[in-house]
Amino acid sequence: MSLGTGSPLSRRRFMRLAAGSSALIAAGGVLSLSSCDDPPSGPGASKPVRSPLPQPVSMSARALALTAAAGVARIADDVSAPAWLFNGLLPGPTLRARRGDIARIRLQNYLPEPTIVHWHGLLVPAAADGHPVYAIASGMSLDYEFPIVQRAGTFWYHPHPHHYTAAQIQRGLAGFFIVEDEEEDALGLPSGSREILLLLQDRDGDGAEAFSYAPTAADLRAGMLRNVPFGNGVPLPTVNVVGARYRFRVLNGSQARVFRLALDTGTLLSVIGNDGGLLPSRADVESVYLGVGERIDFLVDFGAFPAGRKVVLQSLPFSLPLASGDPYPQGLHMNLLELVRTEGPAQDESPLPSTLSTVPLLESTTSERRFVLQSAGDEDMHQINGRTFDMNRVDEQIPLGQVERWVFHNDSTLPHPVHLHGTHFQVVARRGGRNRVFPYEAGWKDTVLVMPLETVEVLVTFDLYRGVFPLHCHNLQHEDMGMMLNVEVI
Ligand code: C2O
Ligand code: CU
Ligand code: CU
Repeated sequence: MSLGTGSPLSRRRFMRLAAGSSALIAAGGVLSLSSCDDPPSGPGASKPVRSPLPQPVSMSARALALTAAAGVARIADDVSAPAWLFNGLLPGPTLRARRGDIARIRLQNYLPEPTIVHWHGLLVPAAADGHPVYAIASGMSLDYEFPIVQRAGTFWYHPHPHHYTAAQIQRGLAGFFIVEDEEEDALGLPSGSREILLLLQDRDGDGAEAFSYAPTAADLRAGMLRNVPFGNGVPLPTVNVVGARYRFRVLNGSQARVFRLALDTGTLLSVIGNDGGLLPSRADVESVYLGVGERIDFLVDFGAFPAGRKVVLQSLPFSLPLASGDPYPQGLHMNLLELVRTEGPAQDESPLPSTLSTVPLLESTTSERRFVLQSAGDEDMHQINGRTFDMNRVDEQIPLGQVERWVFHNDSTLPHPVHLHGTHFQVVARRGGRNRVFPYEAGWKDTVLVMPLETVEVLVTFDLYRGVFPLHCHNLQHEDMGMMLNVEVI
């Protein structure tokens, strides 16, 4: 590893990344990591060490043994940390299926505590959805079987046992679940080495701490916010690209962090999809807010840059109405992923489609439900409509097939990414705060970011399966502390 000789120590956060950090320190090994690279300040100044972005291994969801067990995360050359992993991999394997397939997955829990896996964004029967009541004890296994009934899209899977979700995701348990179909095939989007999956998380830069879970009181309030961006399990990732168009599928799998994605060159992101799959039409935007649990799917053409050029996917600063005292508050400027344009053929036949899919709009309705998002007090800090989660209590009942308007009002000073299982919804209005629905929030969503003082309206219907599905804040500390309700589809 290259070391920062002559770096301005006082101007940059230095962190030690090590399994045996003492061994590395003894050898003089100190990695410099910074959330936002300072410009080098003269001769000898060093850049932070970046790690090559790994691409998770793909596996078919049609016949899969999925194990959750303790293991070791390799987070840089010679640097590893204890972690909990799906199939020994970080991130977990990328599960792939096509519309019309049947997924058959055996979950084996080798963790020392209960777990259950939820397929975030997949439309599956309630009994296969990973509701916390179905958590299985250490040593047990569970067979999932469900048809893939939805459009192509970028989904993910992660543990969902009540009170343990945050810790299990923090320790490394999360992976992509990609659904493909003919509609998307026909678009001829970039694939193979020109499709980059990026699981974004912010972590502590210290190897011993990066995958551990010990939230402070401040973490339990605002959510656990750290300052080192990780991509697919490694800190400060970098990846080489050729002069062609790439597809990025980005998942915010952090604990609490809201990212505001943009390229440092100001190049527009050509957004083609979000949580529920393809947008009706492409949205070229400068930046994208991505709350925990949300996905964004966009194209970038690197043919526009000369070989050798570095382009950085950043998280831009933003401010919330009320400043918090957190050491690494929301809105922190971060350099998430470095993209290095290498020599390479610039020929590229992939089209830049403008019309992508047809999304029937749900009809407006007067049947309305309101959800007030609250974070206050010490006990039962995070609530929806004054309640905290009771796994066995049904909070709302909605008839199968009925279209409703759900209104989420954030009556707190914290962002709340609201997530619904069992269906997708359409975002129709946002008042207060950012005061608009963004073009990349079109189509079908399963998670919507409700910033402080915002009121967001969505149209929703459950038209596939009856049963109990959670509605919750996807800030993982909020979720674990009970900011979740049960919605029963009757
Ligand atoms: Cu991604 Cu209920 O969760
Ligand atoms: Cu979910
Ligand atoms: Cu929340």
